Amino acid sequence: MADYTIKVRRYQPESGKPAYWEEFGVELDPSLSVLDGLLQAKDRDDGSLAVRCSCRAAICGSCGMKINGQSGLGCQTQIGEAQELADKKAAAVGGAAEGNVITIEPMGNMPVIKDLVTDMESTHWTKIRRVTPWLLPYGEPPEREYIVEPESMVDITQSMACIQCGACVSSCLSMEVDPLFIGPAALAKAYRFVGDPRDAETTERLTDLAHDPHGIYDCTHCFSCVDACPKGVAPMDQIMRLRRKAGENGIEDPNSGHSHEMAFVKIIEKKGTLDESLLLQESFAPGVLGKLLPTKRAIKEMIGSLPTAVRGIKTGKMRSLPKLIPGVHHKLPGNAQDEVKAIYKHAEEHNEEFNLYIKGEEGDEEAAVEERLEPAAAPGGEEASNG
Ligand code: SF4
Ligand code: SF4
Ligand code: FES
Repeated sequence: MADYTIKVRRYQPESGKPAYWEEFGVELDPSLSVLDGLLQAKDRDDGSLAVRCSCRAAICGSCGMKINGQSGLGCQTQIGEAQELADKKAAAVGGAAEGNVITIEPMGNMPVIKDLVTDMESTHWTKIRRVTPWLLPYGEPPEREYIVEPESMVDITQSMACIQCGACVSSCLSMEVDPLFIGPAALAKAYRFVGDPRDAETTERLTDLAHDPHGIYDCTHCFSCVDACPKGVAPMDQIMRLRRKAGENGIEDPNSGHSHEMAFVKIIEKKGTLDESLLLQESFAPGVLGKLLPTKRAIKEMIGSLPTAVRGIKTGKMRSLPKLIPGVHHKLPGNAQDEVKAIYKHAEEHNEEFNLYIKGEEGDEEAAVEERLEPAAAPGGEEASNG
């Protein structure tokens, strides 16, 4: 048993007072959870402390919250680990090395109903419904079940592991800026159906999500949702898969999101680092590097981006334009550029999908399928993780 102090952000709308912090002392084994700590405080000190939970086993997705600023599940976070993190954070800014309070807040990007209970309807469930989260199959349903090859389902097993806890939504940086962003959980759910071989509406789904200004190209690739997800869904990876499929299907989005992404790939392959002057023209008027093929819209977009371009020149981010500006480097040193090209070549030859569930070479996919089909064979006799 050990003593901990949890500092809970409380909000009681019936009181008419703004949110406030309250500390509770709890006594628990370090291997028990932060949720156990909250329930003890509720039991011993204040029965009005509101927290949502059910399974207490990281299955139901009810207990999403922020612990020491990090979104996750209260029932999955050991209180001993939360204490270590609180101490580490405090020490990093010159505070005491131990005995710090563990802060607990309601999830972010959602209205708070009471204490740690958030309104998931307005920001989570509405967006889940937005992506038509059910199968839209070909023709009439068969008399019995749809038969599919297990291999064809491997690609979506990761997104199927979602427990709808909202931790990724809580941590999403894009959503903080654009509350209308469809968001990590709903887009991961969208991939669950886009990647399903039984679904007949793949192109329609992808077109919809690519054309929506708050859709797949609104993600800033910040990895925050990947860190927050307790089930290894890695929502950002599912968004990248949606983008890749949209590109493969030749779906042109009005936001130039696909061209922008391809511009990054092309420029870094050619120059090793990002050259923002080329990024603008390649994003809005994709063509041969260095040669502008202007369309009306591209010209309009580029004129609108002039203030950004000026800032880019001043900070040295636009490297090829201002060749005369001292201190701006136009080439990578030594053979660094060759090394960058070698990475591209390796990735292309080995069909590698970086940051994604299926890693490694093409043949490994088979092994992944076998592992899924025979979970008992996984190390320790446990089912292989989805992460
Ligand atoms: S990677 Fe994208 S979806 Fe995930 S938290 Fe960052 S902005 Fe949001
Ligand atoms: S993707 Fe992960 S974090 Fe997001 S709702 Fe699903 S399980 Fe929770
Ligand atoms: S109580 Fe069910 S996931 Fe935490």
